[in-house]
Amino acid sequence: SHEGDRQGRAPIVTVMGHVDHGKTSLLDYIRRTRVAAGESGGITQHIGAYHVETDNGMVTFLDTPGHAAFTAMRARGAKLTDIVILVVAADDGVMPQTEEAVQHARAAGVPLVIAVNKVDKEDADPDRVKNELAQRDVIPEDWGGDVQFIEVSAKTGHGIDDLLEAVLLQAEVLELSAVPEAPGQGVVVESRLDKGRGPVATLLVQNGTLRKGDIVLAGLHYGRIRAMLDENGKAVEEAGPSIPVEILGLDGTPAAGDEFAVVSNEKKAREVALFRQGKYREVKLARQQA
Ligand code: GTP
Ligand code: NA
Ligand code: MG
Repeated sequence: SHEGDRQGRAPIVTVMGHVDHGKTSLLDYIRRTRVAAGESGGITQHIGAYHVETDNGMVTFLDTPGHAAFTAMRARGAKLTDIVILVVAADDGVMPQTEEAVQHARAAGVPLVIAVNKVDKEDADPDRVKNELAQRDVIPEDWGGDVQFIEVSAKTGHGIDDLLEAVLLQAEVLELSAVPEAPGQGVVVESRLDKGRGPVATLLVQNGTLRKGDIVLAGLHYGRIRAMLDENGKAVEEAGPSIPVEILGLDGTPAAGDEFAVVSNEKKAREVALFRQGKYREVKLARQQA
């Protein structure tokens, strides 16, 4: 059609779990071993999200503290996460924040993949994790349920390939899709004010393609994208569905969970931004000047 074809897109994954069960270690291991080194000599920067290529497809990880990001996004009604990886340490079992994550995922209607972590440890007991989660209606596939449990070690890397494969299998069931030719639209992952570069925002594109030079409206702010960087800090010209990028050019720092959209008219973008900020007098003035 003229609107462009719908195509498959990569799953966007959030990692959750109880304190110290290995969320950061898992994300770091995958980032370290899977994200191609940048041209700048492999020094990756932290932009709150990254994507990895596997033999079976691409996976995008939200690299922000799981619960906080998830809660902020949900509070704003944004559905960003397609799949939650729930990390449960095999030497500790189900803990309060494990249960909380199960509730969060259920309430949001997001499927879980269980990473039974720290299986390298002597006192690891993966069956205990299965039992404890099954009691909470998270039933393993091999027990007749529909949840994949993957034994991993974020320390040795054991099972990480299987985990990525499980995520992609789950994604297939979800039939995730987007229209790459549409104007870029998605969610703000995080933003900050950089001393030298001004407002810097990490955006995750959900639909369409975001391009350098586009005018973007993001939460209370707007601006023309003057530079766009990938997770390696490498300048890129565009970002399609499920791709995270850092952008420069906004007039302020939108909040995590704010939605963004490419708009065609800069004046209109400014007006909407002012309106959202409650600056009605300035909106009137701008209209009079137009
Ligand atoms: P919070 O962000 O504080 O909730 O913790 P986290 O879930 O991010 O856990 P983190 O990755 O910080 O790991 C906690 C501790 O467990 C660290 O000392 C890690 O080195 C250790 N750890 C994580 N994964 C493994 C693993 O697979 N095996 C072993 N042996 N240790 C692990
Ligand atoms: Na920790
Ligand atoms: Mg952590």
